[in-house]
Amino acid sequence: MTTDAKILSALRAHPDGVSGAQLAEQLAISRAAVWARMDELRQVGFAIEAGPHFGYRLVGEPDALLADDLLARLGETKVVGRDIRVFEETTSTNDVIEKLARDGVKEGVVIFAESQTKGRGRLGRKWLSPVRQGLWFSILLRPELRPQETTQLTVASAIALRRAIKTVTGLTAEIKWPNDLLIGGKKVVGILTELSAEVDRVRHVILGIGVDVNQGVAEFPAELRKLATSLKLAAGGGEISRAELATEILRELDFDYARICGGKFSAVADEWEAGCATIGRNVSVQMGVRFIRGRAESLDDDGALLVRTEHGHLERIIGGDVTLEK
Ligand code: BTN
Repeated sequence: MTTDAKILSALRAHPDGVSGAQLAEQLAISRAAVWARMDELRQVGFAIEAGPHFGYRLVGEPDALLADDLLARLGETKVVGRDIRVFEETTSTNDVIEKLARDGVKEGVVIFAESQTKGRGRLGRKWLSPVRQGLWFSILLRPELRPQETTQLTVASAIALRRAIKTVTGLTAEIKWPNDLLIGGKKVVGILTELSAEVDRVRHVILGIGVDVNQGVAEFPAELRKLATSLKLAAGGGEISRAELATEILRELDFDYARICGGKFSAVADEWEAGCATIGRNVSVQMGVRFIRGRAESLDDDGALLVRTEHGHLERIIGGDVTLEK
């Protein structure tokens, strides 16, 4: 953890105030250095009061994602989030991770951007990423999985996001196979999994996650208003802390990634099926030029969706666009 992350943790642990002397001792730096760090933190938007009786106390937080703040909130994780970097603007956070992956960076690094100029979704679609209104981030993973097993990671991400959203907002999202989370039938989360692999071995996986958090109706283009919403709109209330949500998501992803790496996909799949709006529904699936219609029966061992077609065949779906029929 950086010094700023340690200072923020200490301030949060002592809401009534913590003395400069205590912080200096804890961090093994001088009191003047503590004072200088407080000044830096104020400049990035933290409201920190100082007084002779209480020392320093945190009274306000910026609506910005800051790497030190996210690290301080997250604490220790096994893999996901042990390195967090925040950009004001990128093309796509998946592009930044791709470059880090090629440079040999360790798995677990997370890149957030406050906005993306070329955010992308599945199947070549665009992903809108307005400034500070959502969470636009990507994670580098290097799992020991075969390429066809990587759907497991998308499935695990969906349940991790679902739990985090429940904890922070109280909202229950439904999962639509494999990568969407919906509330009231409207999409709030999309996951784009990109893969670099040899025939039988994954080199790395990039999990790109977009969460619509604080947009108002006007911020969605008219053609999306029936299809997408934000957590704030769904909760019918005030602004949601993006930093709190981001760290809860990373904590839950770390937990599920450990389950996948530990060979416990069946526990992940059970939780996924329980929260899934797709199983038991009539669906249509567009896979490139193929189109099939049928009933989604269950999830296969590797995360594929098993669909019983109108003609009675069982089809394994590992990609494509699934639409829930009425
Ligand atoms: C989808 O539902 O089509 C997937 C959307 C994924 C969007 C996220 S935002 C962060 C990351 N960077 C991107 O360019 N895309 C993903």
